[in-house]
Amino acid sequence: MNRRNFIQTTVAGSAIPFMGHAMQNDKPKTDRVRLGFIGVGLRGRNHLNVAAKSADVDVVAICDIDPDAIKRAQAVLTRAGKKEAVAYSKDPKDYLNLLKRDDIDGVVIATPWELHVPMSVDSMRAGKYTAVEVSATVTLQESWDLVNTFEETGSHCMILENVCYRRDVMAVLNMVRQGMFGDLQYGHCGYQHDLRNVKFNDGKQAYGGGVEFGEKGFSEAHWRTQHSVDRNGDLYPTHGLGPVAHWMDINRGNKFNYLTSMATSSKGLHKYIVDKGGPDHPNAKVKFKLGDIVTTMIQCENGQNIVVIHDTNLPRPYSLCFRAQGTEGIWMDDNKMIYLENKSPKPHQWEPFDKYQKEYDHPLWKKFESDAQNAGHGGIDFFVLRAFIESIKNKVTPPMDVYDAAAWSAISPLSELSIARGSTAVEIPDFTRGKWKTNKRIFGLNDQY
Ligand SMILES: NC(=O)c1ccc[n+]([C@@H]2O[C@H](COP(=O)([O-])OP(=O)(O)OC[C@H]3O[C@@H](n4cnc5c(N)ncnc54)[C@H](O)[C@@H]3O)[C@@H](O)[C@H]2O)c1
Repeated sequence: MNRRNFIQTTVAGSAIPFMGHAMQNDKPKTDRVRLGFIGVGLRGRNHLNVAAKSADVDVVAICDIDPDAIKRAQAVLTRAGKKEAVAYSKDPKDYLNLLKRDDIDGVVIATPWELHVPMSVDSMRAGKYTAVEVSATVTLQESWDLVNTFEETGSHCMILENVCYRRDVMAVLNMVRQGMFGDLQYGHCGYQHDLRNVKFNDGKQAYGGGVEFGEKGFSEAHWRTQHSVDRNGDLYPTHGLGPVAHWMDINRGNKFNYLTSMATSSKGLHKYIVDKGGPDHPNAKVKFKLGDIVTTMIQCENGQNIVVIHDTNLPRPYSLCFRAQGTEGIWMDDNKMIYLENKSPKPHQWEPFDKYQKEYDHPLWKKFESDAQNAGHGGIDFFVLRAFIESIKNKVTPPMDVYDAAAWSAISPLSELSIARGSTAVEIPDFTRGKWKTNKRIFGLNDQY
């Protein structure tokens, strides 16, 4: 099968025929960017809020099947002094009508996970710069679908991994690149976030909470909890893995080779339902497949190991548990400590990271600190959307590209496979098809995104 037949086979499910258009990197630069949003639930509205406050962005159209989400999204726009966007909310396929518009340059997709790839593929085939929330893909085939669609159409797909812009992990990136840790040997990361009780308060009313999910669930509980019923693996690897992949130049001089995953038994969600809803609550009968803690170990081409933890169903304070360790020192997220051999004041003793944070603060943060101030998640939401906007304006590859989206997200289905096979090692495909050997760094290079 030649490559083109392969591509046609793998993305045949797309609702949009690819008629051909200029590759995005060949188009002229622009000063303004026109955006469309698909999915304006809690996360989509965070992005919308950043876009609405950006003087160089017009929000042309929004799409959501929930009329309440549309109403709230329009309010985000008008509150920021922008006019209401054209709304698409007729049915689950109405996003295709948004994609048909020729006055949209870029599309931001923040829908449930299983819709990310079908929508992204359609958006790329419609010639739009596409930004998709995390995780970008659910299955291995979907990771290939994103890559194949990019290679066919030249339309970029950026994974909106905001944690890559966290101020401390960017300072650590700076330090890694300056050799402060010597040769980097080990990365530790994960998503350790107690998600048993998704709720939200808009200032007037509290939403969510409790033990309902599915039809009766609020926001993510509406769709995400079902993944915990059906799947046992690291369901959400990219918040941890994205920053570590940048430290280790994955897809650019290095690559993931194989992984092995292990899961504990599943007790947390059931206990929570019984504790809060009582033993007779209908959800007390639900059997959850997802182990409470899933640990994945990744072996990299250049010899490093990465440990990724997924921990969302037990009581615990939030932490992404980052650790960077090399031949000359170690940094740890928990307690914000660092130890550098021959540099730290006392042998074998931690010192606080603050001093290094100031000294190695990334130029992006120094330049845009005040712009980021009111954006979500401590400012990182500003940076991630700005990176997408600047890529569109400059007609360049976004700093986290389709290969990053494919490789980081693929850890999810591959961890499921490893667990299902008794924690045996599973090969991680090279989505770059060998280009990792010559690809150059694109993330965090300067203060221009
Ligand atoms: N990066 C982060 O920090 C972060 C934080 C939260 C969520 N997320 C991610 O963002 C995505 C959305 O999460 P959320 O919390 O906003 O969930 P949500 O349930 O609040 O929002 C999803 C929205 O998609 C809409 N939708 C569903 N089907 C649709 C369709 N066919 N067409 C148009 N709209 C449709 C829903 O009506 C809903 O409003 C997920 O991928 C999640 O993992 C990322």
